[in-house]
Amino acid sequence: MTRVVLVGAGAMGRAWLSAIAENPGVELAGVVDLDLDAARRAAPGLPTGTDVVSVAARAGADAVINVTVPAAHHAVTTAALFAGFPVLGEKPVADTVARALSLTAAAEAGGRLFMVSQSRRWNPQLFTLRDMTAGLGPIATVGTEFFRAPHFGGFREEMAQPLLVDMAIHAFDSARFLLGADPVQVSCQTWNPSWSWFAGDACAAAVFEMTGGARYVYHGSWCAPGPESSWNGSWRVVGQEGTALWDGDHDPVGPSVPAVEAPSGIAGALSVFVEALRTGETPMGEVHGNVLSLAMVEAAVRSSAEGRPVMIDDVLSQAHSEALRDETRPEVRKVLQGWTDVRAALG
Ligand SMILES: NC(=O)c1ccc[n+]([C@@H]2O[C@H](COP(=O)([O-])OP(=O)(O)OC[C@H]3O[C@@H](n4cnc5c(N)ncnc54)[C@H](O)[C@@H]3O)[C@@H](O)[C@H]2O)c1
Repeated sequence: MTRVVLVGAGAMGRAWLSAIAENPGVELAGVVDLDLDAARRAAPGLPTGTDVVSVAARAGADAVINVTVPAAHHAVTTAALFAGFPVLGEKPVADTVARALSLTAAAEAGGRLFMVSQSRRWNPQLFTLRDMTAGLGPIATVGTEFFRAPHFGGFREEMAQPLLVDMAIHAFDSARFLLGADPVQVSCQTWNPSWSWFAGDACAAAVFEMTGGARYVYHGSWCAPGPESSWNGSWRVVGQEGTALWDGDHDPVGPSVPAVEAPSGIAGALSVFVEALRTGETPMGEVHGNVLSLAMVEAAVRSSAEGRPVMIDDVLSQAHSEALRDETRPEVRKVLQGWTDVRAALG
């Protein structure tokens, strides 16, 4: 039985409480939130508090699940790792690539597993599309169209780049997974139509050059009234040998491939995390493998702001300098200093 402490009892925290309850190998040991009443409501009778390290110690936890707001990911996860707890954290890995690199180095320095739950990657239909993609020969283009009209209220309607920062990271991460390739550079424009109910740019169009030469093209809007795409977006993969299509909700259409069994959603990420703790093997989603998905977001935001293509390696090397400048833990700083090539350090 793996005993976990959940940090962050907000909207997504409630979804994680259900995933924990439904996994017979996982037991909730305590809940942490700055809002103590929210923590108590989430875990009547269990240890609660506002500090992850003291609650996890008191609860005798084996691991921590971090579902706080992105700005708190770095502090909460670093504290848990250095107190000896492996961490499963919600996307995004951190609020900036610099802090994502610091967390990656913290996982190396502390020797504890830090896995990011990028939940839309854990989708059996996406795994099938990946297998179809592998059968299409050299790939020219992968495209995602994402068009919805949600009224969230709250922070998303106030952010400068709500679509790119809060949502597109899922699609960017899925594109890396599909192609087995990483981003090289991006050209991106973002804009906000006159009828938008978002303060920031709710529309984006981005073209990424990927390693191997394929282009990944993302086109989306969060203020698109009318027929909506899937929350996963709608996908087209074009290769030398043909095309594969996925509407985001049903089985993809393309070359025939064997049926795929794959973990699904946050419940899937939780089962993969627990299995990795048991076996000691490195799971998909381990922090090193996730950082480039956040780098795609940060590079796209920068490209839009500066009106020019942005190289991913420039984003990484600037983030590395910032991480070194801001690092307060000597053992993390030492790991960061050892990285002469950030992309190589991420594997
Ligand atoms: N995978 C998905 O599809 C998906 C969907 C929604 C949200 N998310 C992610 O889940 C995370 C949480 O989002 P949410 O919608 O639940 O936000 P939320 O604001 O509803 O909840 C966050 C909670 O964290 C608490 N918190 C903030 N800082 C803390 C700290 N330092 N220590 C302890 N608690 C702290 C807040 O008090 C709040 O209760 C975000 O990273 C978000 O991107 C993922």
